[in-house]
Formats: sequence, structure tokens, C-alpha cells
Amino acid sequence: MIKMPHVIPSYARFPVTFVRGEGVVLWDDQGKTYLDFLSGIGVNNLGHCHPKVVAAIREQAGRLIHTCNLYRIPLQEELAKALTESCFAEQVFFCNSGAEANEAAIKLARKTMFERKQSHRYEIITTNNGFHGRTLATLTATAQDKVQRGYAPLPAGFKYAPFNNPQAIEQAIGENTAAILVEPIQGESGVVIPDPGYLPALRDIANRHDLLLIYDEVQTGMGRTGRFWCHQHSGAAPDIMTSAKALASGVPMGACLTTAKVAAAFSPGSHGSTFGGNYLASSAALATMEVINGEGFLKSVAAKGDYLLEGLRRISANHKMVTDVRGCGLMAGIQLNSPAEEAVSVCLSRGLLVSCQMGTIIRMLPPLIVGTQEIDGALSVLAGVLNDLF
Ligand SMILES: Cc1ncc(COP(=O)(O)O)c(C=O)c1O
Repeated sequence: MIKMPHVIPSYARFPVTFVRGEGVVLWDDQGKTYLDFLSGIGVNNLGHCHPKVVAAIREQAGRLIHTCNLYRIPLQEELAKALTESCFAEQVFFCNSGAEANEAAIKLARKTMFERKQSHRYEIITTNNGFHGRTLATLTATAQDKVQRGYAPLPAGFKYAPFNNPQAIEQAIGENTAAILVEPIQGESGVVIPDPGYLPALRDIANRHDLLLIYDEVQTGMGRTGRFWCHQHSGAAPDIMTSAKALASGVPMGACLTTAKVAAAFSPGSHGSTFGGNYLASSAALATMEVINGEGFLKSVAAKGDYLLEGLRRISANHKMVTDVRGCGLMAGIQLNSPAEEAVSVCLSRGLLVSCQMGTIIRMLPPLIVGTQEIDGALSVLAGVLNDLF
């Protein structure tokens, strides 16, 4: 492990230092170039240093970076409007990360039931192997032992059910249930894609039991899957949705989006964030949204996603250790029948950034502005690595 005497070692880091980025390409401090097919874990959806985002940040940094939420922030209001126009939502709360966005969603669900005079309904049902963040509440929502270990006692009010199994969710519902929280595609557990009827079935269950349906679109949102929001493939809207990661292209920002009816449970003092939705982050997010909303952008994500998936399927046909290839838009998982860490590390040494999920899955989250030539380049590195290692 690399020694960094003054940094708490909560990450196992590769011995690589990047010093510059442009589009899909990163340069390290030795001058070597890399194809970034991880996008800072789904953050750099527009690639590195997109000129529109850079210009917006530069301009805003020279004018006003931060005031606070005790005063109006017109850019935040503009961003909230743009976000609501992208989906079911009518109002937005801004924070700084995915975990915080999910905290806001969990608090909002509880407060909604409190305001309905049903404060006994505080429980949130989440799914096995989901990922919702690292704060105490969101790691409790994250039904994975490796994330929860050592942090007992965990907050009360979370229950787990298998993913992609609406019946199991319905069976888990009890008199204390307030909400169901799911990722439309499980990202951290290796791009696990549910059946097309899954979200509509959850919508139906939430309606019948008068529960709130919450989607965590922290990883799947902002165009990643070829729609602005992943759940839009299914037509089943949630009551609350969270976003972060790519929202402001790397300036930390999270958001909790909901209907006006649900949002009414929050009033001044109910929830807050010093930085949430400040001028700098809002300017970066507005520029990001403008690019994603551009003519033909999302269609091109879907087309390039299909191209990537076809290439991965070709590789899997020639490599027995690949047991499954799955993807939606530019989010792909390659399941191996053996550990994937070494393959990921050799990919890095050959100039390709991907990640290892759940020990045996290679995940690709390339920037949405990736070109087919760059996809070809990544496929060729991956095929070479699988050839040489297995
Ligand atoms: C689906 C999902 N939700 C929440 C989070 C947590 O986001 P953050 O690390 O910004 O707190 C992540 C991070 O990987 C995620 O993938």
C-alpha cells in the first residue's frame, strides 16, 4: 500500500498521479496518457475540463463563489427549475454529495409521515447490495456488511429485501414502513439491471400501500444511461429522487428532488446545508445540464452505449472467463468467473481506467462525450489484458 503519512488511509490507492485531463484522456505526472473509462466514478460525464463547464466556473468564480442559503441565489433557483423540467419533480433541495442527498430523502420521507400524523411510519425498505452512501443513515440503507461493519449500533428504521423482486419488497412492508428506496440500476454492486417491469411494480406497490417511492439516481442520472434519468426508461416516476456525482461535473453537489406535495413537509429550519446550491456549484451544474440537454446528446449516449456493449459481447464470446456482459447507455458491467482486481490493475498499467466491483466485476463508466474510436481503444486494451491474464 502507498504511504501517505498525513492522509487517513480509508482508500486503497493506485500509485498513479494525474495532473491534467481533457475529454476522455488523462495525463499522469510522467507524461503518460490514459483513457478514462471510469469518469471519477461517474462524475465526469462531460469528460475532463469540458470547455462550457470550465468557462461557467471561471466566470462565476470571478464574480461570486458563495453567499449562503439565508439569501436568494438566482442561479440555484434557475438550476432547480431546469432540474424540475427534466423529470416528475417540482421542487429541489441542494446539498453536496450523494450520501447527503439520500439523507435528505430519508429525512423527507420520515417528516412526510410525521406531518401526516403517522410518525410510527419511519421505516425505509432498501435492497440487498444496494449502495446509498457512507453517513450513518445511508450506510444503514446500504445493505452490505462490508460497508456497515464496525459502526454499530446502526440507526433504527431500515429493512432489506432482495433486488429485482417486487414481491419481496411487498412482503417486507409493515405498519412502520414509510418508503422504498432503490437504485434503478445498482451501480456499485456491478451494474445490476432489474427487469423492465421492476420499477412499475414498485410504483404500484407504493401506491397501494400509500408509501413513498425513492429512487437513488446518484450514479444512474445525468444522462448516464441514455435518458436524462434512468427511471425514465420505465415510465414509473418516484415521489423523491436523489442526484449527485455528475450533477455539477466535479464541483461537489447533491440534490433531492420531489413533488410540491411531499416537499411541503420541509419548512424553514427542517433541513439545511451551508454550501448546498451555492453560486459556484450551481453555475457548474447549469452548464452541465445545458450540454446534456443539447440536441441529440442523449441519443448519442444510447448509440455509443450499444456500440460499447456490442464490443464487450464480442470480447465475451472469445473469453471464457467472461460469464456476463450487461449495460444500459454508457454504464457497463463485465462479470468474470474469477477475481477482477488484477485485470483492472493491468488495464491501468496499459492506460485504461476501469474499476473492480464486488471482486469479480469490471465496471465501465466512460464520459458521455466518448468517441467510438476511444471505445475501440478501450476494448482493445481490455481484450489484450484478458488474453494475457487468463
Ligand atoms: C447510487 C449511489 N448512491 C449514493 C452514493 C454516495 O455518493 P457520495 O459518495 O457522493 O456520498 C453513491 C456513490 O458511489 C452511489 O453510487
